Amino acid sequence: MQNQLKEILENAKKNIAEASSKEDIEKIRVEYLGKKGQLTSILKSMGKLSKEERPVVGKVANEVRENIEEMIAKAGTAVKAKEQEMRTKAETLDVTVPGTERKLGAKHPISVTIDEITKIFMSMGFSVADGPEVETVFYNFDALNAPQNHPSRDLTDTFYIEDQEDVLLRTQTSPVQIRTILKEDLPIKIISPGRCFRCDTPDATHSPMFHQVEGLVVDEGITMSDLKGTLDAFVKRLFGPETRTKLRPHHFPFTEPSAEVDVSCFKCGGKGCSVCKGSGWIEILGAGLVHPNVLKVGGIDTEKYSGFAFGMGVERVAMLKYEIDDIRLLYENDMRFIEQFK
Ligand code: PHE
Repeated sequence: MQNQLKEILENAKKNIAEASSKEDIEKIRVEYLGKKGQLTSILKSMGKLSKEERPVVGKVANEVRENIEEMIAKAGTAVKAKEQEMRTKAETLDVTVPGTERKLGAKHPISVTIDEITKIFMSMGFSVADGPEVETVFYNFDALNAPQNHPSRDLTDTFYIEDQEDVLLRTQTSPVQIRTILKEDLPIKIISPGRCFRCDTPDATHSPMFHQVEGLVVDEGITMSDLKGTLDAFVKRLFGPETRTKLRPHHFPFTEPSAEVDVSCFKCGGKGCSVCKGSGWIEILGAGLVHPNVLKVGGIDTEKYSGFAFGMGVERVAMLKYEIDDIRLLYENDMRFIEQFK
């Protein structure tokens, strides 16, 4: 029996040495010290021994049990420490590892330009009006005095909404003139930035989607000199205090008289360079005195009231100001491009 006990001790030693988890150790404890364990069954059978043998074997058995208990306790502590160490290792935060960079966006040059234009006009007392990009033929053409045969009404020039010949993507921000005249009380002094659409094939200077800023003033006694003075003040703020304006006669259905407005080249000051293509002047907008037919749509007394309006291409201004040579760059959302306008 003593040999059996020694064998049990040896086996337990070996098993415990191999144990690597709490579960392993618990299994070993049950195997040797549990109710049906190896050591327990030996102790149970001690009754068969003689009176002399019993204390001797009992002493050895107790020693073996204490030994195994001690080994199990030690192994338990070791395994616990090891598990703790592994957990700590897994949870360690290495503050020297470079972080994941989050790229910050930048304001788009079109937005930068619209914001700048808006700021200048707001400082002159204009407020900002808004209008829908999906418009009706009435607001985009009819109410703006466009003749029935005006070429811009053509299917090849304007995006009409399929099956709804009366609905289109606005070709200009001018419909906001009519919407404002019909909605607001006089006097009116608004600008309206927004998207416009025309059936153009994209190239360096054309895009089927682009932006305009519309301007409209209606009050008593408004004349061409108010228009010229307002635009003069505006371009000096936008392009620099040396900038001059020049009105060239033009035609728009909704203004009379109409003009195209040129500014002296902000790059060369008017001497002629690559930006102004040698002419010293750059065209930036269309304008004029609001046609009485347009005012009449809003029931305005044209004997008493008059107004001026203008429409400016935002892309054109942005491209001139930042010397961008291809309009398509504005719509590619390439961060290397957009980041330059931060
Ligand atoms: N809507 C005109 C265009 O798109 C510009 C304009 C606006 C002209 C207001 C005169 C007055 O070309």
